[in-house]
Amino acid sequence: MSVPASANELQNAARSRSLQTKGLMLGLIIVIAIAGAFILRQRFVGGSAGPTIGEITELAKTTPPGDRAEWLRLARATLTAEKVMPLTDPQEPINNRGEASRVELGYQLFFDPILSGDKTTSCASCHHPDHWMADGLRKGVGLGGRGYGAQRAGTGQELKRNTPSIFNVAYNPVQFWDGRVGSLEEQALVPLFAEDEMHQTSVDGLVRRLRAIPTYRELFAKAFGFNSKKEGEEINLQNIARALAAFERKLNITDTNYDLFVRGQDDKLTTGQLRGMVVFFGQGQCAVCHTPPHFHDAVLSSIGVTKSPEKGAPLDDDPGFGAVIRKRDGFGMFKTPGLRNVSRTGPYMHNGAFNTLEEIVEFYNDGGGRGRGLNVYSQDTKVAKLDLNDRQKKDLVDFMKSLDSLAPPPIVPKQVPSGLPVVGK
Ligand code: HEC
Ligand code: HEC
Repeated sequence: MSVPASANELQNAARSRSLQTKGLMLGLIIVIAIAGAFILRQRFVGGSAGPTIGEITELAKTTPPGDRAEWLRLARATLTAEKVMPLTDPQEPINNRGEASRVELGYQLFFDPILSGDKTTSCASCHHPDHWMADGLRKGVGLGGRGYGAQRAGTGQELKRNTPSIFNVAYNPVQFWDGRVGSLEEQALVPLFAEDEMHQTSVDGLVRRLRAIPTYRELFAKAFGFNSKKEGEEINLQNIARALAAFERKLNITDTNYDLFVRGQDDKLTTGQLRGMVVFFGQGQCAVCHTPPHFHDAVLSSIGVTKSPEKGAPLDDDPGFGAVIRKRDGFGMFKTPGLRNVSRTGPYMHNGAFNTLEEIVEFYNDGGGRGRGLNVYSQDTKVAKLDLNDRQKKDLVDFMKSLDSLAPPPIVPKQVPSGLPVVGK
């Protein structure tokens, strides 16, 4: 609605007596709309009471570390200043609404090695509940790998990158460290056919394999069989991907001490974590990219990650997004990973080069790769020297631990429809 047009209408209404009441009504609606917009603006664009993040950072400098009441106040003020919202349910694509039958099928497929060429590897070989849906390895171990998690070390082909946890992937706008794939449906087919991962060589072969298993015929019919004419017809590549994605969309970390605090429970964070929250949003600048509620910003950037964590280590040479767009501009750019559960899913970074959160905080405190004197082509300017003291560094790590899930990971099925052995059951 635009004001000049409405003013016109008001004039017309004045000319004609019969239109006068309508005009008045319209005027009233405009007044209410403008007042409403003003109130909303006050709420969301600031202007409301409460200190800014800069003011909070200043106040923090003079607040005694043990003054819990004051840290509570500052932490709450931080959430207000940053307009932090609670988590909402993830969006589901219109053609894959996450019906229980699909989620159940996806769960079975996820743990079933039948999906891999040589029937040894399931998605869970690398994304395992014992490792919070990652593998605990520096880099993933693919073809030829045996077992799961640490057992896989040295057993097969080392992959190019670290295996991310697939908790909360439903909230990723793009998938993979370099963001090369959009949807989870699309993503699921990549490891299936990747030569160095599950190495499935034939779509027909895979479909035939699954159709030969009565339990899969049943599960697919339940999940997808609306008007199929032939038994097993619903078993196709698209539906395999949909079921896997439907299962993954249910893997969400919604309850952490941080979330409970956001929802009002003051006692959920230690005083150190309260102080850490203030650093995370303030002096540390972390929330600029690791933005709540997902603790990522849905974009890719370069922070100048090195080949190993110590000062003086050389720059990592993975081109990341640069290879996706085939431009130097994207060199070294990776997706900001969400930080829910982060304390449990090391090693860290796209190359798994960092083993602890302490090492990571040290790296950021130095100003990332560029801050450590490396020639980083496109490092984000938000990563710069931080001047944190030892307590602040420790508090930052403690705060990240408040993002750990309070709920257990999914249960490993005792058996899967193919009858093949399930890893780590
Ligand atoms: C051999 C180990 C391995 C197997 C098996 C495997 N993955 Fe992965 N997964 C990885 C690695 C490594 C990456 C990161 C690759 C990259 O970013 O380039 C990844 C990335 C992902 C991502 C993107 C997560 C993110 O935050 O960007 C999803 C989703 C995923 N895998 C799901 C699956 C599914 C579903 C299966 C089974 C069909 C599977 N994976 C099988 C190792 C594996
Ligand atoms: C400019 C955006 C940006 C800022 C600011 C930023 N990060 Fe990051 N963070 C990233 C990106 C991008 C990665 C992945 C980099 C890679 O793998 O090459 C990352 C990775 C991480 C990881 C590893 C997560 C994992 O699963 O491997 C942690 C932990 C982390 N950041 C914490 C922090 C903290 C703490 C701060 C504040 C001191 C911070 N970040 C500031 C963008 C940022």
